[in-house]
Amino acid sequence: MAESLSVSGTTKKEKYESLLPQIKALIEGETDFIANLSNIMSALKFGMDFFWVGIYFVKEQQLVLGPFQGPVACTRIQLGKGVCGTAWKEKKTIIVEDVDQFPGHIACSSLSKSEIVLPAFDKNSEVILILDVDSEHLAAFDETDKVYLEQLMRLIEDLTPTLSKGEGVKF
Ligand code: SME
Repeated sequence: MAESLSVSGTTKKEKYESLLPQIKALIEGETDFIANLSNIMSALKFGMDFFWVGIYFVKEQQLVLGPFQGPVACTRIQLGKGVCGTAWKEKKTIIVEDVDQFPGHIACSSLSKSEIVLPAFDKNSEVILILDVDSEHLAAFDETDKVYLEQLMRLIEDLTPTLSKGEGVKF
């Protein structure tokens, strides 16, 4: 496992293209799902200089906070609530340019101004977790983030245990 990451490039595209192979190398040889997600969150936060990066698992018909990097956050989110609960319900990536304009946005930190939320799916196309990335800047996320973070979600799906049984994540 690499001890540190070094993200090169000036554009967002270049940074993701530098970071994603390093994330793959980082998790290579480690089979523990939580350990890998934890390192991926750190790599994303510090590699891309995001304000908050974290996972919410679908558990007991709620989203429950998982590995994250950044200030403390709300621990449970209901289906259809906030950006995360909406991305879960609608089973799609949501980009919010201004969180104050998103009805029902859940403000874990008043410093967060924009966000992107992406679902990961099991083999039955059920959402098993979501990734939430927040920025202190308005309109920080666009199609470039969507393209590369969706690639990351496919990588996370490949790491997920017991998906083929459609039983959700077991640890
Ligand atoms: N803003 C999110 C809640 C999670 S935090 O930002 C970490 C939402 O509206 O779902």
